[in-house]
Amino acid sequence: MALSCWFFWAWWLSLMLAVTAAEEQGEGCSAPKICGNLTISEPFWLPDWETGRSCGSLDFEVTCFKGTPIIRSVYGLKSGFAIINISYEERSLRVVDQHNQEALRASSNRCHIPSRNTSVKLTPPFKINPVFNMDLIFYNCTKPPAAHQDETLVEMRCGNESNAFVRAGGRYDGAGDGDYATEGCQATVVPVLGESSGEVDASNYEELISGGFLLTWQSPPAGT
Ligand SMILES: *[C@@H]1O[C@H](CO)[C@@H](O)[C@H](O)[C@H]1NC(C)=O
Ligand SMILES: *[C@@H]1O[C@H](CO)[C@@H](O)[C@H](O)[C@H]1NC(C)=O
Ligand SMILES: *[C@@H]1O[C@H](CO)[C@@H](O)[C@H](O)[C@H]1NC(C)=O
Ligand SMILES: *[C@@H]1O[C@H](CO)[C@@H](O)[C@H](O)[C@H]1NC(C)=O
Ligand SMILES: *[C@@H]1O[C@H](CO)[C@@H](O)[C@H](O)[C@H]1NC(C)=O
Repeated sequence: MALSCWFFWAWWLSLMLAVTAAEEQGEGCSAPKICGNLTISEPFWLPDWETGRSCGSLDFEVTCFKGTPIIRSVYGLKSGFAIINISYEERSLRVVDQHNQEALRASSNRCHIPSRNTSVKLTPPFKINPVFNMDLIFYNCTKPPAAHQDETLVEMRCGNESNAFVRAGGRYDGAGDGDYATEGCQATVVPVLGESSGEVDASNYEELISGGFLLTWQSPPAGT
């Protein structure tokens, strides 16, 4: 009897504390929410469609689309990044560039070469992790490159268009100044995580893009 009474008290007290905490944080604005398999919590937030209220910096706004949490890029939500994992302790996100993924998936007949370096799609607080990511470089060439005999260049599977190539670079250094230029070709640099061995086999470019890459974030200043 006394024991169940104690349990009731403990339960009641923890409930009241939780309610108070939620109120203090602005009516549950920053209470964790679920999207797909992921828990979205501070500094990220999902908009509340009923109240339409904002819960913080737009940089950290997450749109939940069919169970996939998405953060916007510089070019908006349509060319946003799907979040496949979040580590709140490490301030790290694993994301997939949906635009590139869809373009490559649809490229059985026509070629769609990523035309923007990933680095230009992201601004602070997000940063492409320079330690874990590797480079994948896509080439859109006006003529077969002189370095065609270079065996690191892999021809893309692009129907009958043949001036599209991809190759594995080194570690993504974040400076974006790798020596990737090939005469007559436009180079696009995309980070990928690669296989667990750290290998990047450029001929698996669709899988590499779908595997995503790592972003880190800096927390917004307190009070925003
Ligand atoms: C959730 O996780 C399961 C198992 O890991 C996976 O098969 C599924 O695709 C995931 N769903 C989403 C929406 O990411
Ligand atoms: C997600 O991240 C956690 C650790 O942060 C890790 O244990 C887990 O394997 C990751 N899941 C995927 C699908 O990458
Ligand atoms: C290659 O670049 C040209 C010029 O920017 C563009 O018109 C063409 O669509 C690109 N090719 C592919 C396959 O993306
Ligand atoms: C590629 O193939 C399509 C259909 O098979 C054809 O219409 C087109 O002219 C071809 N393009 C080139 C550059 O050969
Ligand atoms: C991407 O970055 C590389 C290296 O900085 C640069 O040479 C290239 O022109 C850039 N590509 C595009 C499409 O802006």
